[in-house]
Amino acid sequence: MQVLNQKTSHKALLDRFQKIRQDTVNLCEPLEIEDYVPQPASFVSPPKWHLAHTSWFFEAFILKANSPNYKVFDPVFGFLFNSYYQSLGARAIRDQRGIITRPTVAHVYEYRRHVDAAVETLCAQSLSQETQFLLELGINHEQQHQELLITDLKYTFSLNPIFPVYKTGLGWERPLDNTDNEWVRIQAGTHYVGAQTNIFSFDNERPQHEVLINPCEIRTSLVTNREYLEFVLVDGYQNFRYWLDDGWAWLQDNEVHCPAYWLKQGDSWWVYTLEGLQKLILDAPVSHVSYYEAAAFAQWKGCRLPSEFEWELACCDLFWGRRWEWTSSSHQAYPNYQVSEGAVGEYNGKFMVNQMVLKGSSDATAVGHSRPTYRNFFHPHLRWQLTSIRLANDIS
Ligand SMILES: [Fe+2]
Repeated sequence: MQVLNQKTSHKALLDRFQKIRQDTVNLCEPLEIEDYVPQPASFVSPPKWHLAHTSWFFEAFILKANSPNYKVFDPVFGFLFNSYYQSLGARAIRDQRGIITRPTVAHVYEYRRHVDAAVETLCAQSLSQETQFLLELGINHEQQHQELLITDLKYTFSLNPIFPVYKTGLGWERPLDNTDNEWVRIQAGTHYVGAQTNIFSFDNERPQHEVLINPCEIRTSLVTNREYLEFVLVDGYQNFRYWLDDGWAWLQDNEVHCPAYWLKQGDSWWVYTLEGLQKLILDAPVSHVSYYEAAAFAQWKGCRLPSEFEWELACCDLFWGRRWEWTSSSHQAYPNYQVSEGAVGEYNGKFMVNQMVLKGSSDATAVGHSRPTYRNFFHPHLRWQLTSIRLANDIS
């Protein structure tokens, strides 16, 4: 991270910290107290847990090490709200977060204010480059959790027979601006990919390195509900030829017939959204598909998914930012990737197996929390994030 003027830099960092912390609180504004607690599946976390965990991150990684006068809010919070950092000690079982009815929501908000005040005090002093980097990491970490908080809530609400409305006017199901289905050609040859070191990036985006690209083309617009519905209606889910073997087993085991949150009533298709149950908008991007579904759809279309590198090189010509886009790339270390020292080394590096890279960002991503080199990643069967499909083709 570049530090040109320390005082200005601290002020800018503190402003960003305060804004992002407030953004998280604002996301919870439409919630009722009962919404803060349930955890209907191991891969989702309750809003209260997100509120506490993001605060714990600043406490554990920054305040305890850099603020000699910092008073830990409650020693048991480290056990309750550590997610997966083995270096930082024992932690509560992940799939039992919904059982943690105490501390109360009010107490967790008190915890947030305690941490906020301590970070503000810290920022009044001179900060080392490492502390500034960790603060920036904590801010980006909280932005990631903002998206998780909202997609986790959507999953929880979707299981409620009355289909609760989180908030109206979000507009996340709006049609794509461009459905021309144009293709852009990616120049074959050796190209640089990955993040440069003078702006913030996660460690899995570094270092920048060369890749060899073969001639190919990539579609400028995402796959729409209209296109995906065609795949559903031609019995795409009943034809093993389109599916990877793991995907075929997944859809049989889970009786999957369409994207998550789709519902068929009579001859009409509906979809659960954070604005409630709505008729499926055909020109909106298809959403909540697994990697297996994305790969099967591409196979049916006679295409393939782009690799993460093809996507990164073409992104300036693509319409992106509405949905996370599955790529054909597995989440692996770039050449000369270094795992950081200490607990931050557990942030991404240990997840470099059995997960696929997603590029872009979504309507639920925090503003400013996206860049061409960003590498999101999830297991191939998961689909509660706002995930979609972009097509690519080889050119001979
Ligand atoms: Fe986290």
